[in-house]
Amino acid sequence: MKVSLITGASGGIGEAIAHKFAERKHNLLLVARNADKLGTLCKQMTEKYGINAQFIAADLAKSGTAEKVFAETKRRGLEVEMLINNAGIGSGGEFSELALEPEMEMLQLNISSLVALTHMFLGEMKKRNNGTIINVASMASFIPIPYMATYSASKVFVRHFTQALTQECKPYKVHVMLLCPGLTKTNFNHAAGMDGEVGRRLNAEYSSSTPLQTPEQVAEELLTALDKRKHYIVSGKMNRMASRLSALFPNAFLAKSFAKSYRKK
Ligand SMILES: NC(=O)c1ccc[n+]([C@@H]2O[C@H](COP(=O)([O-])OP(=O)(O)OC[C@H]3O[C@@H](n4cnc5c(N)ncnc54)[C@H](OP(=O)(O)O)[C@@H]3O)[C@@H](O)[C@H]2O)c1
Repeated sequence: MKVSLITGASGGIGEAIAHKFAERKHNLLLVARNADKLGTLCKQMTEKYGINAQFIAADLAKSGTAEKVFAETKRRGLEVEMLINNAGIGSGGEFSELALEPEMEMLQLNISSLVALTHMFLGEMKKRNNGTIINVASMASFIPIPYMATYSASKVFVRHFTQALTQECKPYKVHVMLLCPGLTKTNFNHAAGMDGEVGRRLNAEYSSSTPLQTPEQVAEELLTALDKRKHYIVSGKMNRMASRLSALFPNAFLAKSFAKSYRKK
């Protein structure tokens, strides 16, 4: 059976993308840690949209999990025609003060698992000469953000990796796409420990005047861009303007401005 695999589908942007694909009658394979939430979602989607929705509860912040997920798709006889690497976590605060283990787990989740899943499923897509891979980076990939140093650097990796792969995959009929959301109202800040002082200083509060999108808006923009066979999308008009503006300034200047603003608050 053909499926679209979405990581980080138990909430936020991943869940919104899952609903949009389910509406379009894609069979789904949802991956995240929260088995109860995934089970409930699969049941709802199967009943509401008449699709086959199944899940794998897995912790992609652990090394070797991506390989287990791949093996499980084989065991279930699933053909992953679309891979959406959306699962990700953030962190905020002074790097040297943050605990090292969660930072390393974030790199495993945001980078290593994404690379491993892409490698394994891309091999199959190339053989079939069709498939789609969507990687979720962030507006944070355009700026080296002090006090969010590891996260923003992890998203630069995702952006560069995905844009390079887009070109490598052109000779095959594998469509690769990069999604860069801006501030979106999800559980992200809470999971990153950024819903208090750190989020306020980073200007990333959900209540601030910063342009804020809903996960549904991000998912809708993604589908529109996918229909147009785009390879790259920054969601939200204001975010698109900000990403173009950031390209006009040197990274060192942007980093200095962000550091000053964080320390002033
Ligand atoms: N929200 C924003 O403002 C924003 C802005 C730019 C980019 N993004 C990016 O958008 C993506 C989705 O984030 P979101 O805003 O939707 O955040 P979210 O609401 O916190 O959702 C994150 C998803 O990832 C899953 N996840 C977290 N840790 C995991 C792990 N170790 N293994 C497997 N799954 C894991 C979570 O499920 P479980 O807890 O069940 O595992 C959840 O389904 C991320 O890559 C994020 O960097 C978000």
